[in-house]
Amino acid sequence: MKKFLIAGNWKMFTNVFESKVLVETLIANIWKDNQNTTVLVCPPFTSLCGVADVIKDTDLKLGAQNCHYEEKGAYTGEISPQMLQYLGCNYIIIGHSERRTHFKEDDEIIARKLSSILDLGLIPILCIGETFEQRMNNMTNTILTKQIEKAFENIDKSLIKQVVIAYEPVWAIGTGISATPEQAQETHRWVKDFISSTYSVNREDLTVIYGGSMNDKNCYELLNLADVDGGLIGGASLNAETFTSIIETAKSISKI
Ligand code: PGA
Repeated sequence: MKKFLIAGNWKMFTNVFESKVLVETLIANIWKDNQNTTVLVCPPFTSLCGVADVIKDTDLKLGAQNCHYEEKGAYTGEISPQMLQYLGCNYIIIGHSERRTHFKEDDEIIARKLSSILDLGLIPILCIGETFEQRMNNMTNTILTKQIEKAFENIDKSLIKQVVIAYEPVWAIGTGISATPEQAQETHRWVKDFISSTYSVNREDLTVIYGGSMNDKNCYELLNLADVDGGLIGGASLNAETFTSIIETAKSISKI
C-alpha cells in the first residue's frame, strides 16, 4: 500500500483571510479518511497563525516555505525554524528553485537550514531540480548529485530518512508543462538509488515527491509511478476544488 505526501506550496499568494477561507473549504472537502495520504499546506508566513488555528482539530499538516538557519539574532526580516515550530509547523520547504534563483540561496545556505530544521525534529522538504538547459545537456544527474551531496554534507547520516526530497525540474515549475511520467519515474528512481547507495539508507525509507505543474489532470499518472511518493503543488493548490481532486486521487491510488 502506497503512502503519499500531498503538499500545497501557496508561494506569495493569499492574505490571511484568503488563506483561512481556502483551508476551510479544503477541510470541508477532505475531512475524512486520509490515513495513507498526508495533506500539508504551506501558506505565506503571515497566514501561518490563522491557518494553524483553523486546522488545529484536523489531521492537516502545516508547513512554511522557507526559514533562516539561526534560532535568533540580528537578521532583519528573517524567521527562524524555532519560531515556525512554535506556530505549529511540522514541515519547512528549503532550496526551492525560486529561492535559489531570486534570492541567490546557494547549496551552503540550504545545508545550514537543513541541519537546523533536523535539529528541531521538524521535517525539511529539500527541493532539487535541473534547468531545461541542464537537462538538454544531459547534466540532470550531475546537478542533482551536487545539490544532494552539499545539502547532506554536515548532517548526521542517520537523519537522512527524515528528509523529504522534492524533485522539481525548474523548467516544469509554473509553466504548465510537467515532466512526463517517464522522466519523473526515471529521475525519482535515480534519486532513491543514489541516496540509498551513497548514504546506506533503506530505499523504502525515502520519500521523494514530485513538483512542477502537477494538477488534477496529470496527477493520476504521476502519482501512480513506482517511485513518486507525493506532490509539491503550487498553482493547482490555490484552488480548493483542484487541490481536493489531487488529494482524492492520491487517496484512491493508496487504497489499491
Ligand atoms: P507549480 O509549482 O505546481 O505551480 O508548478 C510547484 C512549486 O513551485 O513547488
